[in-house]
Amino acid sequence: MGPLGTFKQECATPVAPGCRSSGASICLEVDDLNPQMSIRLATEGDLDAILEIDRLSFEKPWDYTKFAAALSGVFLVFEEEEEILGFLSACCSAVGDNAIIEKIAVHPDHRGRRIATRLIAAVLERLREMRIREVELHVDIVKRGAIQLYEKFGFAIRKVLTVDYEENEAFYEMTLALDKK
Ligand SMILES: CC(C)(COP(=O)(O)OP(=O)(O)OC[C@H]1O[C@@H](n2cnc3c(N)ncnc32)[C@H](O)[C@@H]1OP(=O)(O)O)[C@@H](O)C(=O)NCCC(=O)NCCS
Repeated sequence: MGPLGTFKQECATPVAPGCRSSGASICLEVDDLNPQMSIRLATEGDLDAILEIDRLSFEKPWDYTKFAAALSGVFLVFEEEEEILGFLSACCSAVGDNAIIEKIAVHPDHRGRRIATRLIAAVLERLREMRIREVELHVDIVKRGAIQLYEKFGFAIRKVLTVDYEENEAFYEMTLALDKK
């Protein structure tokens, strides 16, 4: 996902207090989850499985260090029968009330099962609880499926970011204003 340089810059700022610590009992009420499925916060022990999904999903995967750093944010995994099938990493700005979805991926063998939909629903629920007002993400403009997925949640394209002219890489910056509940 996205121009990671930009993400890292923004997320290199200290994570907002409570971004992780108060998420210990993160929302699991995704209505149609059966008992073998869960969405929970990622731990260090999940990183090997996450790295493998990342490698299968992106041309430029993250390394272990980046994922380990992301554990201090809102980093969710979708688990079925003790197997990690997908993940979503978000971080919150230390100043202000915005958050960034840095990465989302689902194992290729399990796509189309609404796992990403459930992960996004869960992270938005959590970010609302944290009184985050705006969520941002960057998506490669060629990823129509991912763009449609975000649009279903109300994300809208705010601008186009051209990151690498030589490699012809361009991303949409998409944002979603979270309602207060
Ligand atoms: C994008 C991704 C996370 C979607 O995961 P998923 O669990 O298969 O997605 P879901 O089953 O929840 O799909 C929900 C919606 O997303 C859209 N969508 C997802 N993948 C799509 C695809 N390949 N083509 C078209 N639409 C797609 C559809 O609108 C779908 O709605 P529908 O089920 O009503 O048709 C997954 O394909 C993936 O890991 N891709 C590689 C990594 C990546 O591109 N991540 C996003 C980076 S910006």
